[in-house]
Amino acid sequence: MEPVIRWASGNNRPILMIPGPTELPWPVIQAMNQPPMIQYDQNFDLNILEPTTLALRQVFQTADGEVLIMPGSGRTALETSAISLVEPGDRVVVIVAGQFGVLMREIMSRVGAQVTEFPVEWGQPLDLARLDREVERVKPKILTLVHNETSTGSTYPGEAVGAIARRHAALFLLDSVSSLAGLDVRTDAWGADCNMTGSQKCLAAPLGMALVSVSPRAWQAMERRAHKAGTWVYDLLHWREFWIPVSRGGKIPDGAPRRQPISIPTHLTLAMQAAVRLILEEGLPNRFQRHAVAGRAFRAGLDALRLELFPDPSIVSNTVSCFKVPNGVEAGAVVKQMRDRYGILIGTGLDRFRSSTLRVGHMGITASPLYVLPTLSALELALRDLGYKSEAGAAVAAAQSIFATADGA
Ligand SMILES: Cc1ncc(COP(=O)(O)O)c(C=O)c1O
Repeated sequence: MEPVIRWASGNNRPILMIPGPTELPWPVIQAMNQPPMIQYDQNFDLNILEPTTLALRQVFQTADGEVLIMPGSGRTALETSAISLVEPGDRVVVIVAGQFGVLMREIMSRVGAQVTEFPVEWGQPLDLARLDREVERVKPKILTLVHNETSTGSTYPGEAVGAIARRHAALFLLDSVSSLAGLDVRTDAWGADCNMTGSQKCLAAPLGMALVSVSPRAWQAMERRAHKAGTWVYDLLHWREFWIPVSRGGKIPDGAPRRQPISIPTHLTLAMQAAVRLILEEGLPNRFQRHAVAGRAFRAGLDALRLELFPDPSIVSNTVSCFKVPNGVEAGAVVKQMRDRYGILIGTGLDRFRSSTLRVGHMGITASPLYVLPTLSALELALRDLGYKSEAGAAVAAAQSIFATADGA
């Protein structure tokens, strides 16, 4: 019998096609290749941290909001916003359309909110009229939305939900962890009072930073609290006092040294600086278009493999694809085969869809033929190894034809 060829042998790590952390652009990796510097040194503040957070405002599409970065991950951004705004007993409506809606609900409960869940069937569209009625009924202080539900590969209408929040005088908290810098997330235009994300997804920076933009309305709500938030590090109001110059509504005289409520990791900030520079050089419209085409191409490949998407076609995400595994095939076995034999790591579904769905991220630099085509090729081969046959090369050809006609090049 012929030996089984391991195409990935010799590769010391798989290519990351999971929905984050994602592959890093080379300049981002290189930016970290530096000796340590002092995080409270003014040189770091003035020349690296401040320009990076100011440039991030363009990525967040906010002129009014303040972007803060802190060590942590997406969850840190969610929790810092929740704990800074919520006082025990405050009413919060949480839209739960997947695993990350569940996470938001748990965080809100932990900080003492009186949570009203607005359930949405996983992978199904959101009924805006029903949401409007529910917000009218509950009259919450806060309405939360996961813009891109990474667990189901679904994108929800940030603008329309933001408008509902505004209509009912609620603050709007937006989880853009798997969408910011990949999908067109408009912080100011949608009225997102806290727009919360992590570094390791569409921003294509290393895991380790939480990012949150805070609107003037959110600051006012924090100022109106009866009691201070029960945290030193994660109280955003405290960040404002320590961190934001007087000219932008803070307490630090312009040009004076600022204090960090938590020590900011210098290497991760350097990486973020490089990542943001690349994003702005590419231009946001180009970047969104690139993700849209890559998403479409990946879906065309799935279709050629006769694989069914998990979400309703009207809400498919351009940064994460979630699709059903064929009958008789175990999702975990596909992940293992793709990683071990073909050197590409994709993800299983989450929670009760763990064994029946797979998830692939096409975000940051992986939203490109360079990554999408080999992933489809490996998926086809891995499924063939596991007994699911499809026409050789059909998935790659289908995706290729989308890339080939995507622009006028
Ligand atoms: C939509 C969404 N929200 C929150 C999180 C949690 O972020 P992190 O893993 O960076 O803490 C994730 C992570 O995948 C996510 O996709």
